[in-house]
Amino acid sequence: MTNIYIEKVTLNIIDQLQKIGRQTFYETFSAGNTEESMTKYLDEGFSIEKLTTELNDKNSEFYFATLDNNVIGYLKLNFGQSQTELQDEKALEIERIYVLKEFHGKNVGQLLYNKAIQIAKQKKTDYVWLGVWEENPRAINFYKKNGFVEFDKHVFKLGNDEQTDIMMKLKLDN
Ligand SMILES: CC(C)(COP(=O)(O)OP(=O)(O)OC[C@H]1O[C@@H](n2cnc3c(N)ncnc32)[C@H](O)[C@@H]1OP(=O)(O)O)[C@@H](O)C(=O)NCCC(=O)NCCS
Repeated sequence: MTNIYIEKVTLNIIDQLQKIGRQTFYETFSAGNTEESMTKYLDEGFSIEKLTTELNDKNSEFYFATLDNNVIGYLKLNFGQSQTELQDEKALEIERIYVLKEFHGKNVGQLLYNKAIQIAKQKKTDYVWLGVWEENPRAINFYKKNGFVEFDKHVFKLGNDEQTDIMMKLKLDN
């Protein structure tokens, strides 16, 4: 798995973003959620309209991980006012790191994560933060092994279900 590339996502490849977004969200959350909640989120959260707005946002960036020209994972970063919470100008939010299930445990998540940290350092942010579903132990362990610590808990809605996110952060020494 040496030929994995990280590349910035642009509007002309929005279809691939929609596809990887839906597939990885489904793989991650379908087991623990109702079909109804999933369908609603997949329709609304990954509509072309919503993704277009996000791709045009100067304060958000998407990156793909590709292997042999196939998209196998992606990253979404938010800065400034586009962060889903906190909106601290000195912070960067990792809103999403999603890798296709068949590529878990193969360093792809780590490459996307490394990209996030590289950008956080370039932008001289003080810290990186994220929210992760409390019932997602693999992701929680992944962030912990990269030095993240829990600082809060927040409730969010997936369809009609209320779920708890663990908020984690990593301080950067610039
Ligand atoms: C989160 C994600 C990017 C991490 O990438 P990954 O390649 O799977 O990560 P790794 O295998 O390197 O690390 C996961 C760590 O969790 C632990 N782990 C692995 N499988 C686990 C499991 N089933 N349950 C609990 N912990 C697990 C291990 O400690 C592992 O670290 P190790 O290197 O010490 O063994 C990837 O799993 C993913 O895309 N998941 C689905 C989407 C998702 O949940 N994204 C995060 C949303 S906030």
